[in-house]
Amino acid sequence: MSEQPVAPAAAPPQWATAWPPAEGTERARALFRDRLGHEPDGVWSAPGRVNLIGEHTDYNGGLCLPTALPHRTYVALSVRDDDRVLLTSAQSDGGEVWEGRADRVGPGDVRGFPAYTGGVAWALDHDGVLGGIPGFEAAVDACVPFGAGLSSSASLSTSVAVALDEAAGDGVAATDAGRVRLVAACVRAENDVAGAPTGGLDQSAALRSAEGHALLLDFRPGLSPEDSARRVPFDLAAAGLELLVIDTRAPHELADGQYAQRRATCEAAARTLGVQTLRDVSPDGLEAALTILDDDVARRRVRHVVTEVRRVERFVALLESPEGLAAHASELGELFVASHRSLRDDYEVSCAELDVAVDTALAAGALGARMTGGGFGGSAIAIVPAGTEQDVARAVVRAFAEHGFAEPQFLTAEPSDSARREA
Ligand code: GLA
Repeated sequence: MSEQPVAPAAAPPQWATAWPPAEGTERARALFRDRLGHEPDGVWSAPGRVNLIGEHTDYNGGLCLPTALPHRTYVALSVRDDDRVLLTSAQSDGGEVWEGRADRVGPGDVRGFPAYTGGVAWALDHDGVLGGIPGFEAAVDACVPFGAGLSSSASLSTSVAVALDEAAGDGVAATDAGRVRLVAACVRAENDVAGAPTGGLDQSAALRSAEGHALLLDFRPGLSPEDSARRVPFDLAAAGLELLVIDTRAPHELADGQYAQRRATCEAAARTLGVQTLRDVSPDGLEAALTILDDDVARRRVRHVVTEVRRVERFVALLESPEGLAAHASELGELFVASHRSLRDDYEVSCAELDVAVDTALAAGALGARMTGGGFGGSAIAIVPAGTEQDVARAVVRAFAEHGFAEPQFLTAEPSDSARREA
């Protein structure tokens, strides 16, 4: 018998599992004890997120539909009675403790990890949620995959916000209107201290989501807290489906500059069209608006935003239809695919790894698949029949190996709870 050449077997799919909350809580508490030498006042946590649909719409006054992941950032925190700030993270190299002063955690003072922790204290004080920046100590541990487009940064900033709000402020996180103030402060910390010009999607998802639900966010300027978010039941399991998240692990160094560029193009287009944000361009008015813009790139960016808002509306209508999700599974999948094409071709924020992940998932039986988050790497999501997630994941691992890409990792997304106190 002659021997046939055998293709090397692809590695089995790697799954990023979420810690049970008791484990995350204990990890943060143990880290605090170990590096800071005493017991914390308490432990708080906040989730990462996947955005189901509505991408690059938040900063255009549009609609988004995220859901919170069971993967969370845990922060153990204590308030001090002097002005020292001590910060440490299990994810930073070397196990060091960052030390600074409460009056030096604002814009221009700090970058990176201290900006997403100390910078939040500055922003909460700036917005009047805290009456002065307290000295404090915080130790952080997280199971939100890092750099995967699943909002590990917002889960960090919002966990610190609920912790400081309760330990040193008025406890505004007890109401949804108060949480809207925390969202604004966390966005301010990211924009003004960390230097990332993000919208409000990630912070809103972390602070306003609810278990078993997706969160319909409306970013039209000037809306009241009640009108800016609505919880939409999202029970894929009841429909025999599963949401598979594919972290491509593609490096995305270009992301920051490209994100700011997309945002600037949209804002300039809104000015040319004489509207406050692109949300004010209705689907019926799209063709007319496109004839006013003389730049093809701007035209395609606007077309993405306007059609994407329409897709969010349709997706939510299907989720809320009396026949239930199972009856509309194939149209939900089609909306995912249309969103991905629009992001790839009109908004130009996809990349080879995301396209391969989406195409492979579809070929392996997913009902729909799309990139999620800012793009240029990060994660794709796919709606798959329950029980097929291992097969779809294996197909993606094989395709990535064939293309010479980094090895992807996977998680399944069960809609989870927002930021909260753990202990
Ligand atoms: C990133 C940003 C969000 C949003 C998405 C794209 O995640 O942080 O504000 O703009 O990209 O939808």
